[in-house]
Amino acid sequence: MSPFRLTRTLPEDAADAALRDDVLAGLTSTPKWLPPKWFYDARGSELFEEITSLAEYYPTRAEREILVDRAGDIAAATGARTLVELGSGSSEKTRFLLDALTGLRGYVPVDVSESALTQAGRALVAERPGLEVHALIADFTADLTLPDTPGPRLVAFLGGTIGNLLPDERAAFLAAVRALLSPGDALLLGTDLVKDEQVLVRAYDDAAGVTAAFNKNVLSVINRELVADFAPAAFEHVALWNAEREWIEMRLRSRTAQTVKIQELDLTVDFAAGEELRTEVSAKFRRDGVRDELAGAGLELTHWWTDGGDRFALSLSVVR
Ligand code: SAH
Ligand code: AVI
Repeated sequence: MSPFRLTRTLPEDAADAALRDDVLAGLTSTPKWLPPKWFYDARGSELFEEITSLAEYYPTRAEREILVDRAGDIAAATGARTLVELGSGSSEKTRFLLDALTGLRGYVPVDVSESALTQAGRALVAERPGLEVHALIADFTADLTLPDTPGPRLVAFLGGTIGNLLPDERAAFLAAVRALLSPGDALLLGTDLVKDEQVLVRAYDDAAGVTAAFNKNVLSVINRELVADFAPAAFEHVALWNAEREWIEMRLRSRTAQTVKIQELDLTVDFAAGEELRTEVSAKFRRDGVRDELAGAGLELTHWWTDGGDRFALSLSVVR
């Protein structure tokens, strides 16, 4: 079997410190917020995988459709020898790229979720003898450094996860990605597109309640990691479309007035009845906006592909 390596770019106590900082900052703000990266412990990663097969959640299927159609074009345009994937999760759709990139030597999945990286990495090396998988446990918004692997490098950021960053975070992130790329390298970016509000809201508020469980999972993460006493049932899952910002917001609405204790932070947090905590934005894009955001980071949009229903787009920027 070919090698599978797992590296942590920052020590575990740095991740603990980042969680503490984020929870303290977000829960003492008005309005309250939390960054979405803390959804993804092992249970959160599992719940996200469940979301991807829900009837209402179209992005995964739409992006898969584009990859099936276009992986050959992506391989021809990039000739990548290393595939780096940010927020790789299960690496399920990545297989279409791995199949098409015939000169590929190594795959570098990068994720905050150790369980997702381990499961995906072990499966890939077992099924693809000869592929070197070097997984990195890292926060792509904080410590974006990559192993010294052969070029050309293709950096893939799929799933529409860029939409979970706020506009200024996206600008900083894209600039950091650009700084990693040399001439001949490329960025493949998945973006969900603006569409009918009802379709969007249903995708984030499914009938089976899987997205609600995913949303509330962040409270269980804080309970476990910071010894807190959130009662997830005391919060209601909310998904709404912000037409001005063109993003979905997920929130947790306190069903009653309540006080939560977070022992590790020596903090008590009061929630009024009906008060909302924002847990995620999921921005939806248009072609011109993607082109402009890439250009702002010194990247040129060289290809734009959508699925048959124009629900989702993949864009490619090859560095000259
Ligand atoms: N790319 C996959 C998974 C998308 S889910 C797909 O398209 O289906 C988002 C993934 O990004 C999760 O695996 C989550 O753990 C990871 N993630 C979220 N925020 C992150 C961050 N700041 N740094 C690294 N990984 C992150
Ligand atoms: C990972 N990311 C692109 C998902 C999204 O659609 O914004 C996370 C998600 N949140 C709720 N459902 C799925």
